[in-house]
Amino acid sequence: MSPRLSRAERNDAMPSSPAHDPDWWRQSVVYQIYPRSFADHDGDGLGDLRGATSRIPYLAELGVDAVWFSPFYPSPLADGGYDVADYRDVDPRLGTLEDFDDLATAVHDAGLKLIVDIVPNHSSDEHPWFQDALAAGPGSPERDRYLFRDGTGPTGDSPPSNWSSHFGGSAWTRVTEPSGEPGQWYLHLFSREQPDWNWQNQEVRQDFLRTLRFWADRGVDGFRVDVANLPAKDMSEPLKSQSGAVDDLTPEEGKSPTFDREEIQEIYRHWREVFNEYDPPRSAVAEAWVPAEKRLIYAEPEGLGQAFNFDLLVADWDASQFRSTIAENLTQARVAGTSSTWVFSNHDVVRHPSRYAVPARTDLDAWLLTDGTDPVPDPETGLRKARAATLLMLALPGSAYLYQGEELGLFEVADLPANALEDPIWQRSDHQRKGRDGCRVPLPWTTDGESLGFGPGGSHLPQPEWFADHAVESQSGQDGSNLEFYRQALRLRRELQGAEDIFWPEHTQAGIVDFVRPGGWHCLTNFRQDGGVPLPNGEVLMASSELPGDGTLPASTTVWLRH
Ligand code: NOJ
Repeated sequence: MSPRLSRAERNDAMPSSPAHDPDWWRQSVVYQIYPRSFADHDGDGLGDLRGATSRIPYLAELGVDAVWFSPFYPSPLADGGYDVADYRDVDPRLGTLEDFDDLATAVHDAGLKLIVDIVPNHSSDEHPWFQDALAAGPGSPERDRYLFRDGTGPTGDSPPSNWSSHFGGSAWTRVTEPSGEPGQWYLHLFSREQPDWNWQNQEVRQDFLRTLRFWADRGVDGFRVDVANLPAKDMSEPLKSQSGAVDDLTPEEGKSPTFDREEIQEIYRHWREVFNEYDPPRSAVAEAWVPAEKRLIYAEPEGLGQAFNFDLLVADWDASQFRSTIAENLTQARVAGTSSTWVFSNHDVVRHPSRYAVPARTDLDAWLLTDGTDPVPDPETGLRKARAATLLMLALPGSAYLYQGEELGLFEVADLPANALEDPIWQRSDHQRKGRDGCRVPLPWTTDGESLGFGPGGSHLPQPEWFADHAVESQSGQDGSNLEFYRQALRLRRELQGAEDIFWPEHTQAGIVDFVRPGGWHCLTNFRQDGGVPLPNGEVLMASSELPGDGTLPASTTVWLRH
């Protein structure tokens, strides 16, 4: 077990070491761990903290700078841990607070930073404060911590508004009052087991500050803020209606009552004051699926400091879309005084080699419903484009986010049987959307053995047979493997990384994205489907696919050159 240092002792330690660099996050490569599917130590089929600790050397060797843990807090798992029952503890199935301290020590001893997830929009319905709210009844201070309202209609049996949940169905659920009568309704923008907090309530605000300090005191370097654009809401009566999709930015009535409201700024400015109590200040990145020009209120230095940018993730495989997306995001980040972030895969989306294996704009929910058979995917093209995209991303200024297993070239497990599905989306959409389990299947570490080395006791989601071919064991040390490709790219990125500048050559051929970083680090991607383009002069450092050796850059390939 690691010794606990007080905040003051921690701040006094090694004042001039790189560990104190306040800007460490600006160009970090962050590896996302979905803890229940990463590595299982105790053999219950769910990944855990001790499992993760045992794999920190693997991540250090991979060459990332930081690890982000999706929630590992006590949770009934109605939404993969994003339904938090206690913000300041570890789920007993995943370990203890001592295990967390050991993990933090292992991460720091390996020279990495540690980021944890904070979920401010909603708790679990098993959170003690929600249970108190149910017991205390209408009009009580306990109810005021959440968003309870009376129903509409003569007997109050219709929901207070037409707001819908991001997972499908109404965003309101009716409770039974302590008297046994049908009673008020509470708001949940996700599943009914995830009641939304009332951010007008001072106790809620104070409790979150306590949670931030709790983890920062335990050595956490940064926070990923879940759906950072949702906690602030317009709850004034009469409740405004939601005219279109739940995340409609410009509903007919004007601003959405539940999405991207600027009152949030005040909350995150308080959080920033807490982050700045530490040396170096704790970092934070907002998960906010909003357009680039709307990110300022999350990413401002007086607020969270950085925001996710999912624009390349949703872009078509198209040079002009990639170029304009990159340029716009870099400009917006500069205006906001932050650095941009880039990401192609995470625990919420179909893995990028699979997205690129089907025609552009395929309805991926519909594709998953066919178990990934219609349209028929082309895995070779998918992986080729995915590697080209990743190599491009790793040359960009800003932070790059990798999702566990992408270094192994994993595809989506599109054919999970219905009875294995855990994602609430499956039930809430009346089986119209399978949800996100296909990217959350436990990782293959070995080519055989129990759950391919994930752990000694099976795996909570079934691993397909083809996972064995992607195992760490089968790729490590193998020239040309996806894992060695990632290792090489991350090693080189560390060597080449300099200032955040980027230069766009004046003349670029159609279908090419082409930029140069300080020190003559030149990145070119050929997005064309119809063959190679001439390579400019320069030393070839690495490429995402084999180069033919005739001085051309083949289709769907990225190359790094040095001039
Ligand atoms: C975003 C998270 O990434 C996702 O997994 C979760 O379901 C929702 N927020 C609700 O917390």
